[in-house]
This record gives sequence, C-alpha cells and structure tokens, in this order.
Amino acid sequence: MSRELRSELRGSMPDCLIDIVPRSFDVVGSKQKAVAILEFPEGLEGHRKLIAEAIMRMQKNIVSVLAKASAREGEFRTRELELIAGDPDTEVLHKESGCVYRLDPRTVYFSPRESMERARIASAVKDGEEVLVMFSGVGPFPICMAKRHEDVRATAIELNPHAHNYCVENVHLNRVADRVEPILGDVRFVSRRLDRLYDRILMPLPKGAYKFLDVAVPLLKDGGVLNFYHWAPADDLYGEAERLVTKVFNSGGLGVEFVDHVRVSQYSPRYWKVRIDAKAHST
Ligand SMILES: C[S@@+](CC[C@H](N)C(=O)[O-])C[C@H]1O[C@@H](n2cnc3c(N)ncnc32)[C@H](O)[C@@H]1O
Repeated sequence: MSRELRSELRGSMPDCLIDIVPRSFDVVGSKQKAVAILEFPEGLEGHRKLIAEAIMRMQKNIVSVLAKASAREGEFRTRELELIAGDPDTEVLHKESGCVYRLDPRTVYFSPRESMERARIASAVKDGEEVLVMFSGVGPFPICMAKRHEDVRATAIELNPHAHNYCVENVHLNRVADRVEPILGDVRFVSRRLDRLYDRILMPLPKGAYKFLDVAVPLLKDGGVLNFYHWAPADDLYGEAERLVTKVFNSGGLGVEFVDHVRVSQYSPRYWKVRIDAKAHST
C-alpha cells in the first residue's frame, strides 16, 4: 500500500516530501467501513488532507483518516486522534480471527497489531478454564478465548465506560454473553468483590500492571497461570518483570515457575512490550 500511496501522490506534492509519507498505517474496521490511523512526520503538515484523500481513493472501505496527535496517555490508554478527512463518525465493526468488535478508536484503546497475541493467548487457554481478564478494553481477549473454547468462562474488568459498553455489546455480537461477564470499574476495587479463584489471570496493561499484582495474585488457583505484561528495555527483557512477579507471589506464600517468555511487540528501538507467564505453586 505504501509504495502505491507514494506513486498515487507523485506529481501532487514535492518528491522530497513523498519520501517521508508513512510507509504503513493501522486500519481498524471491516471491508464495509474502516478508518486509517497515521503518524504524520514533521514536514507533511500542509499535505495531510491530500494524503488522506489519496488513501480513501485507493482503499474504498476507508471512510475516515485520523492522525495520531498525542502519545497514549491517562488511565484509559487512549490518544488524541485528529480527523484529517472523511466521516466524523469513526465507530467501526472490526473483524479479526472469526470475531467482531464494535469500537471507536477515538474513545477506547484498541490495536489491530495485537491480533497475533490475542490468538496466542486463545490457543494457550485450556478447555474448561475460568479466566479473569483485567484491563479488558472492548473485550478482544475474553471474547477471542470464549469463541475458541465452548466451555471457557471469563470475567472482564474495565475502567473506561466507553470500552466497557462496547465490551457488553461485543459479547452479544459474538454470542458469548452467557460465558463472558463484563464488569465496569477499577480492577483494584472490583477484584475485592470477586468470590472465586481463577485458572488464569490476564494483565494486559504493560505500563502499570505491576501496580495491581497484589490484587491479582491472591485470586489465582494453585497451579493457575498469570499472563503478565510489562514494558521492558531491550537489554533486559524479562528481568524486572520476573522480579516484580516473584516478590508478590512469595509474599503471598506462593512459589512461582515461569513457563513462558514472549516478546509481544516493539515500542521503540530500545523498548519492548513483553509477556511472562507465571505459574503459581503453594509452598
Ligand atoms: C492497554 S489497554 C488494553 C485493552 C484490551 N485488553 C485490549 O487488548 O485491547 C489497557 C486497558 O486498561 C484499562 N484500565 C486502566 N486502568 C484500569 C484499572 N485500574 N481498572 C480497570 N481497567 C483499567 C484502560 O481503560 C484500557 O482500556
């Protein structure tokens, strides 16, 4: 797409600027309606609309083009997205691995780049598991695992009311409402009200999941697995995550075995999003 986009633009803007037109961008949505999300480098300010219109001309399902206007920030991990061209209604139905997710990227966290990680987790889940998904967003992890395993049950806790409302709608759209229970609220407080233990707990909040280990670990069954996400420097991918997890397991009287280490995605040349899977053992 990027090469064609550049050739589509040739003649309408200076060649030196065409060379800095983004090589790739995210597309969220379906074949019927999608939005493109781009990071425009400095220098393209006066040409963003032209580029956005070229994208919509070339890929007919893209009805809106949004520019990243901030880093991900705040508790909801959303970013400012500026409408450059197209429809101001940016709500879409995103299709992935046999699941559908309704969402508006301007109000919730969602990354189409993480489909592989969702698929990896869904295949790691075993039939019959009882799963707690903290920081569940619009529901991709619990829905993906419940769709794949008919007898898996999941509790999904999310703080952003927009994301929670989409999750409620998405569990119905995917016909898993009888097995996925979305709960609106702060993991720290909601977790205290849960009355059972879990075979697996997911903590997909790389910037800050460690602050909630003290509420997560006591909810794990003996032999249960914690899927813990963390931002890590490239020269020590798993050390800090292992130390943080071990400390909380041990202080709760549990032993820990690390059963998997995964590089999920690269954030910058020096930082990665990683996952470590920690199995609990009573000592
Ligand atoms: C990195 S996003 C992941 C969302 C989702 N799991 C996904 O993969 O698309 C983290 C999510 O955690 C939510 N969140 C942050 N702090 C929270 C808290 N204390 N309790 C519940 N949810 C929280 C944010 O609103 C955001 O939707």
